[in-house]
Amino acid sequence: MIQVATHTAELRELIEINKSKGASIGFVPTMGALHAGHLTLVRSASKENDMVIVSISVNPTQFNDKKDLEKYPRTLDSDLLLLSGSGANVVFAPGVEDIYPDGDDKGADIDLGGLDMYMEGAFRPGHFKGVAQVVKRLLEIVTPDRLYMGQKDFQQFTIIQYMLDSLKINTKLVVCPIVRETTGLAMSSRNARLSSPTRAAAGIIFRVLKSAKRQSASKSPQEICETAMKKLKSQPFDPEYFIIVDGNSLQPVDDLGSTNYAVACVAVWAEGVRLIDNLIIKKD
Ligand code: PAJ
Repeated sequence: MIQVATHTAELRELIEINKSKGASIGFVPTMGALHAGHLTLVRSASKENDMVIVSISVNPTQFNDKKDLEKYPRTLDSDLLLLSGSGANVVFAPGVEDIYPDGDDKGADIDLGGLDMYMEGAFRPGHFKGVAQVVKRLLEIVTPDRLYMGQKDFQQFTIIQYMLDSLKINTKLVVCPIVRETTGLAMSSRNARLSSPTRAAAGIIFRVLKSAKRQSASKSPQEICETAMKKLKSQPFDPEYFIIVDGNSLQPVDDLGSTNYAVACVAVWAEGVRLIDNLIIKKD
C-alpha cells in the first residue's frame, strides 16, 4: 500500500519512523503525469533502498513559460494507480506553500557553476535556478541516501550533481537510462500533447541522434550538427539546437579527440511542444 503525504510534517514523521529502524531512503522527484520513464527510476530506487519516496509536484519556479505551466498535466489519481506495484512506499504530493513556506524566490543564490547558461538554460532563462531550488528544498525535507534522476534531462542531472558536490550534500545521485516509445521518441509527460501522426513521426529525433553517433568516427562535431539540424528541419518539426557538448563542462566540443565524454543534445519544437533528447557519443 502506498502512503500519501501532502504536508512536510506528515512525511517527516514517516521518515523518522523508518530511519529509526535503520532504513535507507531512495528518492525520486517528479512533476507527475507519470510514464514508464519515471517508473524505471522508482524500480531502481526500490532495488537499492529500504524505503522509496516519490514526490509529485509541479514546480512553478522552473517554468519560464506561463502557458507551459498552465498546460502541464496534473493527474495525481492515475499517477497513484501507476505507482502501485512499482516499489514506491510513499508519495509526497505537497502544495507549493509546503515546498516554499517562506516564498519562492530563494533559488537565485544557488551556485550552478555557470552550467545553467547553455543549451536549455540559454533557451529557458531561469529554468535551472528553479530546478535547483526545488531539488535542494526537497532534499532538505526528504534527506535521502540516494537520489534518482533520468538521463533524459542530461543538463538537469549534471547541474544537480554539481549542486550536490558544491553544497556537500550527502546524497548519491543515480542516473537511469532514457526510456523510449516504440518509435524511439524519448518518453515525456509532454508527448501526450502531440497529435498521433506527429508523435509517431517524432522518432526522427532519435534516428538523427544515432546517425550523429555513427558519423562521429569520421566527421567533425560542426559538420555532424549542421547535418542533424538540416534533417530535423522537416514539417512539423522545428529544431532549436543540436549540439555536441563535453559531458562534464557542457561546453560545445570542436574536436572529439579533445574530450573523453561527449554528448549530443537536441531540442525540437513540434505543434507548440518542446521535445528534448540526448545520446552519449563518446565515453571512455
Ligand atoms: P519530470 O519531468 O517529471 O521528471 C522526473 C524525472 O524523470 C527526471 O529525473 C527525468 O529525467 C526522469 N525522466 C523523464 N522522462 C524520462 C525518460 N523517458 N526516461 C528516463 N527518465 C525520465 O525533471 C523533472 O520532473 C523536474 O525538473 C524535477 C527534477 C522533478 C524538479 O521539479
